[in-house]
Amino acid sequence: MTRIDSPAELEKLRESILSIRDPNKPCITLCSGSACHASASREVAASIEEELARLGLSAEVDLRKTGCHGFCERGPIIVIHPEKICYFQIKPEDVPEIISRTIKDKEVIERLLYTDPATNEKIIHESEIPFYKHQERIVFGSNGAIDPKSIDDYLAIGGYSALAKVLFRMSAGQVLEEVKKSGLRGRGGGGFPTGRKWEESRNAPGEIKYVIVNADEGDPGAYMDRSLLEGNPHSILEGLSIGAYAIGSNEGYIYVRQEYPLAVDNVMTAIRKAEEYGFLGKNILGSGFDFTVKVHRGAGAFVCGESSALMTALEGRAGEPRPKYIHTAVKGLWDRPSVLNNVETWANVPLIINKGAEWFAGFGTGKSKGTKIFSLVGKINHTGLVEVPMGTTLKDIVYKIGGGIPGGKKFKAVQTGGPSGGCIPEELLDLQVGFDELTGAGSMMGSGGMIIMDEDTCMVDVARYFLEFLTDESCGKCVPCREGIRQMLKILTNLTRGKGKEGDIELLERLSEVAGSAALCALGRSAPNPFLSTLKYFRDEYEAHIRQKRCPALCCKELIAYHIDPDKCRACMNCLRKCPSEAISGGKDLIHVIDQDKCTKCGTCFEVCPARFGAVGKISGEPVPSPIPEEARIIVRKSKQK
Ligand SMILES: Cc1cc2nc3c(=O)[nH]c(=O)nc-3n(C[C@H](O)[C@H](O)[C@H](O)COP(=O)(O)O)c2cc1C
Repeated sequence: MTRIDSPAELEKLRESILSIRDPNKPCITLCSGSACHASASREVAASIEEELARLGLSAEVDLRKTGCHGFCERGPIIVIHPEKICYFQIKPEDVPEIISRTIKDKEVIERLLYTDPATNEKIIHESEIPFYKHQERIVFGSNGAIDPKSIDDYLAIGGYSALAKVLFRMSAGQVLEEVKKSGLRGRGGGGFPTGRKWEESRNAPGEIKYVIVNADEGDPGAYMDRSLLEGNPHSILEGLSIGAYAIGSNEGYIYVRQEYPLAVDNVMTAIRKAEEYGFLGKNILGSGFDFTVKVHRGAGAFVCGESSALMTALEGRAGEPRPKYIHTAVKGLWDRPSVLNNVETWANVPLIINKGAEWFAGFGTGKSKGTKIFSLVGKINHTGLVEVPMGTTLKDIVYKIGGGIPGGKKFKAVQTGGPSGGCIPEELLDLQVGFDELTGAGSMMGSGGMIIMDEDTCMVDVARYFLEFLTDESCGKCVPCREGIRQMLKILTNLTRGKGKEGDIELLERLSEVAGSAALCALGRSAPNPFLSTLKYFRDEYEAHIRQKRCPALCCKELIAYHIDPDKCRACMNCLRKCPSEAISGGKDLIHVIDQDKCTKCGTCFEVCPARFGAVGKISGEPVPSPIPEEARIIVRKSKQK
C-alpha cells in the first residue's frame, strides 16, 4: 500500500475503492462484536464462509464481519444487502437455508425475521423495527456497515475526510470554534463542554501536549465505548487526530481496559493501517502535521477512569486521583497540558467537522446537543445499545425502543449514570434525557448506562448494591471516601437485613454530606447519589425496612418468607422435588408445607409452582401462618372419591 500524501490522493483512493464495489453485489453483514461472539457469531461466520465455498459462491457474495448492531438481545444479527433483509438469532444450522433461499432465490425466510410483539407482524428491514425506528444513529450507525479491520471500509463511508478538511482548510482556531459552536459536551460523565476543555489546553503554556481517549468504561452494564472501539476504531482515531491538531499536540494515547481484547486488537490494527496510509505518523497527508498514537492497557480499576487517576496510571504509577486545583487540561500527563475525552466524545468530532456545528446542534435540547448512546439493560424487553437525540424522553426509550417491561411487570425506576448515578421513578418518565435534566432529577448522564428496574426491585437494596461496588473500587487515598462510603454500606446492609434502627436515615444523610463535599475525586463525591436519589423518591421503603422490618418489594432475603397457601396447593410435588434444601414436606395427596428453619429463601418453590395454582407466596413484615394440622393436609382427589 502506498502512502497518501494529499487530500486529492485521498479522494482518488476513495473513488477507486468505491469503483470496485458493486452496490448490487450480495453482501451479508454479520455482527461480530464481543456480545455476538458470546452468542456464537464466529461459528455463524465460519458456516457462511464454508457454505459459500461449497457452492462456489465465495467470489459472488461478500461476507462483512461488522461491529455491534446494537440489538444485542437478538444477536447474532445478519443483514443481507442490497435488499437489507434482517435476520435475528442466527445459528450455524440456519446458514445453508439462508444462502439457498435468500441469497440465491431472493426469498425471505419468515421464521428468522423479527416479530413485532405488539402487532405480531413480521418485519423485514432493520429500519422498520421499533427498536431501531425510534433511534437516531449518527455515531453508532456505521458500526453495522463496516468491517472494523478494513480501513477501506472506513474510507468508503467518507473516512478521514474530516481530518483532511481541518489540515488543509481550517486553522486550529477555526476547529476549536466549530467544536465550541456545536455545543458538544463530554460523553464520559460530567458533560464538560469539549471545546472549552480543548481551548484551555491549547492556551496552556508548554511545547508538548497530549490528547487521550478514555476507554476505561468501568460502569457495570455499560458497553457502548467498547462497541464503538471494536466496531469503528478509525472514527475515534480521526477524532483524536483532529483534537490533537486543534490543541497543538503530536502525541495521543488510548487508555483501554485489558478486559476488552477485541477492542484492543481492532484499535491496534486500525493504528497500523492508518500509519501505512499516512493518516497517522509524520507529515500526515503531506500537511506537515505529525501525530502518533499509543495504546495503553489498563488493569480494569473503576477509579482509573477518573481523569487524574487515569493519567497517573498512564505514567506507570498506581492509578489514584490527585487534587485538581489545576485542571488536567493545563497540568495533566507528566504535568503537561492534556485533553482527555471519552470514546464517544471523540467519535462525534469527525461528524461535526464534516457536517458542521449547526447540523450537530440541530439534535438535542437547550444545553445538551447531539445524540447519546445508552446501554439499555435490566428488566427490559429489548436490551442493547441505543442512540437517541438528547431530549428524548425516558418513556420513549423504555417503551418505544426498549419494548417495555417483561412478564407484564410494572416499571419502577431507571438507574442512569453508572454506580454513582441515581434512580428516577415512574412519575418522572416524561423527563427528557440531557445532562442538566438528569442532574436536576438527582441522577446524572454518566457515560450512558441505563438500568431498568421493575416492581420486584428493592430500592434500599439497589443503593446497597452500588455502595458495595463503590466501596470495593475506592482507591482508599482519601478518608471521606475510604471510610465514609464504607460506613454508609454498613448501615445500608443492616437495613436490608432487618437490623436498621431509628436515626439511620439521618446518619446516612450526614455521611452523604461529608463524602459529597470532602472526597478527593468524583468517585467519593458522587458515591452518595444512589442513596440520596432512592431516599428522595422511595423514602417509604427505607422507613418500612427500619420500622416494620419489611421489604415492600419482597426482595431482601432476610426480611421475607415463602409460604404455601393450603387452599391453593394441589400437592403437585413440583416445589417439593426442586427445593434444594429439602425444606418442603408433603406428598402426592398431602398439601405441602415449608419448614421455615430449613428454608434458604432461594425462591425455587415460588418459580416452579404452576401459575394456575399460584400456591407459593412471598410475605414480608408479617408472621408466617402456622401450618394446618396433619389431617387437614390430605387432599382427596375427585378420581379417588368415585
Ligand atoms: C470514578 C470515575 C470513573 C470514571 N470513569 C470514566 C470512564 O470509564 N470513561 C470516561 O470516559 N470517563 C470516566 N470518568 C470521567 C472522567 O474523569 C472524565 O471526566 C472524562 O473522561 C472526560 O471526557 P469527556 O469530557 O469526553 O466526558 C470517570 C470519572 C470518575 C470520577
